[in-house]
Order: sequence, then C-alpha cells, then structure tokens
Amino acid sequence: MNNAAIGVFDSGVGGLSCVAELSKLMPNEDIVYLGDTARVPYGTKSAATIEKYAKEDIRFLEQFNVKMILIACGTVSSVLMTRPLFEDSKVKSFSGVIYPTVTAACAATKNGKIGVIGTPATIRSGCYGKAIRQLNKDIKVVSKACPMFVPLVENGYTERGNQVSTIIAEEYLSGMKQEGIDTLILGCTHYPHLSAIINDVMGGAVELISSGAEVAGYAQRTLISEGAAAERDEPGRIELFCTDSEELFAENVETFLGHKDNIRISKCSLK
Ligand code: DGL
Repeated sequence: MNNAAIGVFDSGVGGLSCVAELSKLMPNEDIVYLGDTARVPYGTKSAATIEKYAKEDIRFLEQFNVKMILIACGTVSSVLMTRPLFEDSKVKSFSGVIYPTVTAACAATKNGKIGVIGTPATIRSGCYGKAIRQLNKDIKVVSKACPMFVPLVENGYTERGNQVSTIIAEEYLSGMKQEGIDTLILGCTHYPHLSAIINDVMGGAVELISSGAEVAGYAQRTLISEGAAAERDEPGRIELFCTDSEELFAENVETFLGHKDNIRISKCSLK
C-alpha cells in the first residue's frame, strides 16, 4: 500500500499548486490528479451540485487504489466540510484544505489580523473564519470573495505585471490593505498562481498562505507519521486527468507545475 498513489482533485488547474508542493516535498510519491475542467468553476454552483461533483471526483480517484485523497479545492473543502463525503469510501485517509491552512495562518500572524480570499461559495460558507476562531478567538478575520480570479488563472493571466489581473486584484484587495492584515489566506487553490500579482498589490510584508501547499505539507506529515510514505528510490509518476480538452489543460500544466517530467496527461469521463 505504501507505494500506492496519492489522489488529488480540484475543479480545474488550481489543485496543481498542491501537486507542485507535494512533488517537491515527496518526490518519490506517485500522484493521480483530477481537474474537472469541463465543469469548472465549482465556486458559483449550489452546495447540492458541488456535493454531486465531489462524489464523482472521489469515485474516479478510488479506481486507482490511492492511499490518500486530498481535496485540493477550497470550495469543496468549505462548502462540504461537515458532509460525509468519504463515508462509503474505501480510502480512509483524506483531507480538505481548511484545517492545514488555518493552522499555518494562525501560526504566521503577528498582529492578529488575517485576510481570507476565496470563491463566492467558500466565503459565503464562513468556514475559514469559523475554523480560525476555533483556534484563536482573538484573531480578526477579513474575508473577500474574488470571483474573477479563477477564470483569470484558467486563462493564463498570471504573469507578474499582467495589467488586467493587477487592476482586478487592486479592486478586490484594497479593503484588506486598509484593515492592515499581515497574513492572507489564499483560500482557493487557483490563487497561488496569482501570487506575484497579489504580492505586488498587498506589499511584501503580508505573508501569503497557500491552501494547496499547506494541504501538501499536511499529507507529508500524515504519511510519515503513519509509516505510509512511498518506499521507492526512483521519482514518482504524475498522472493528470482532466474532463475537458487535454491540449488546453497541457498548456497550463508546465507553467503551474514548473516542469513536465514524468507526467502523463489524459482526458477522462466521470460518468
Ligand atoms: N480551486 C478551486 C477552489 O479552491 C476553484 C474554485 C472553483 O472551481 O470555482 O475553490
């Protein structure tokens, strides 16, 4: 079982921020990734629809006998936090992004003011704020939905200085700046792909916490503590699946993963 793959899913390319970190932290692990690109975005859908999609994503990854599933999607993690998504699953090790991300943000803040940005569904759920207050009720949380960030990332508007993305980021983030937050949770796994732009808008003193990277760190700690890390010397294989055109998906992969070694990309159907 130790050499079984880690399963990761998201609505699109966002979860690649988690895969990039996973393969840095645990280069010998095999990873199977599903990006539901035909149905992205999830963040504007109802909870019932998001639940149906998430269950289909999980069922798809189960076919690979994965040892763990990471929900590298802030929307699924927050909207369905209390739903029994894995009740009937044979995969017993799983995590969403909320707990690892909030733990990192609470450890990082010095002035006790944390910003949270995410999809409309994530911010409406209030999930990050609730989780932060459970850890430390004195921390002030400022939240903002940033609905245009996901399409900007899916369309590759991510390079530092991109004028369109910079103007939109300024509009979304001005309130956070005025509140004087020192830590900003990128509560949607697409957003780290806009880190350079967000950083320029917020100023270097604000620490950005990537939900994708934090869940990858959590996976590493869990696998090591459970004695379930891969036992092989060669680099792991990364198998990426998308539900829409693999050509379109492939265009983003190298940018978001930083390489395309040991990677196979295929289109799949979830039906
Ligand atoms: N990466 C997903 C998230 O973290 C994207 C959201 C969406 O599909 O709207 O929320």
